[in-house]
Amino acid sequence: MQINSQGAALIVGASSGVGAALARRLAREGYALGLVARRIDRLQALCDEISTSYYTRAFAYQHDVVNTAEVPGLLGKAITDLGELDLFIYCAGVLFPNDPTAYDAHEDQLILHVNLIGAAAWITPVARQFQQKYAGHIVGIGSIAGDRGRRGMPAYTASKAGLHTYLEGMRNRLWRDGVTVTTIKLGQVETDMLKNADRRRKPISPEQAADLIWNAIQQRRQTVYVPSWWRMVGLAIQHLPSFIFRRLNI
Ligand SMILES: NC(=O)c1ccc[n+]([C@@H]2O[C@H](COP(=O)([O-])OP(=O)(O)OC[C@H]3O[C@@H](n4cnc5c(N)ncnc54)[C@H](OP(=O)(O)O)[C@@H]3O)[C@@H](O)[C@H]2O)c1
Repeated sequence: MQINSQGAALIVGASSGVGAALARRLAREGYALGLVARRIDRLQALCDEISTSYYTRAFAYQHDVVNTAEVPGLLGKAITDLGELDLFIYCAGVLFPNDPTAYDAHEDQLILHVNLIGAAAWITPVARQFQQKYAGHIVGIGSIAGDRGRRGMPAYTASKAGLHTYLEGMRNRLWRDGVTVTTIKLGQVETDMLKNADRRRKPISPEQAADLIWNAIQQRRQTVYVPSWWRMVGLAIQHLPSFIFRRLNI
């Protein structure tokens, strides 16, 4: 099979849901892919599917983002395997069921570690690589939930708010160096994670989410709500006075 790569992308959190759909979408565009997550069997199956269905190649890397010390070595290996890196997507995330009565420090720390600290551990060395070559695109998968602290999931909303702010800082640092940083504020998507949401609000499919994220990547957007109608919801939520917001069941 002739390989027709239009660049190389690394996706952290690619074994299911939005990350796996993004891997297939980018493979369709001809990207060579590095796919990272803990469930190596799923990653390997996805790599096999991509290598047989699309004119590109894909590599699987097993990694738990909590193990941040592994990141420099793994990033180096991925760049060697891929030959280059043009696009980096941090999609890994966890959400436990909403429960305003729960006070579980271990769960909260895990959420912050996977959704935020893991993102910083990956994005810092990727940013350095891109800054040195004066090119590259970093994408972080945030959430509409990061627009406000919610009583049912303080740690998740804090992790996504932190990710949004971290990405903004990186964008402001890197724009002079020809590097694009895109923040995706995702609404509900029909994935395993959605099983932990307390209610459903017009979820889209992972494939629809991947198409919209790909549009944002192509247009080198800064911050994008996916799908776009969540932008109005986000604006309304951000501007609701606290004494009203705290009474809402969200
Ligand atoms: N679904 C929604 O409604 C929704 C809404 C807003 C934002 N998001 C965000 O979208 C992103 C993707 O989530 P999804 O909906 O596609 O859910 P998902 O199917 O559960 O995917 C989560 C991904 O994160 C990876 N991951 C979780 N913990 C990890 C760890 N410790 N180390 C490495 N990888 C880890 C998982 O891989 P392994 O388990 O194999 O490690 C998996 O690939 C997340 O950042 C999530 O917060 C989702």
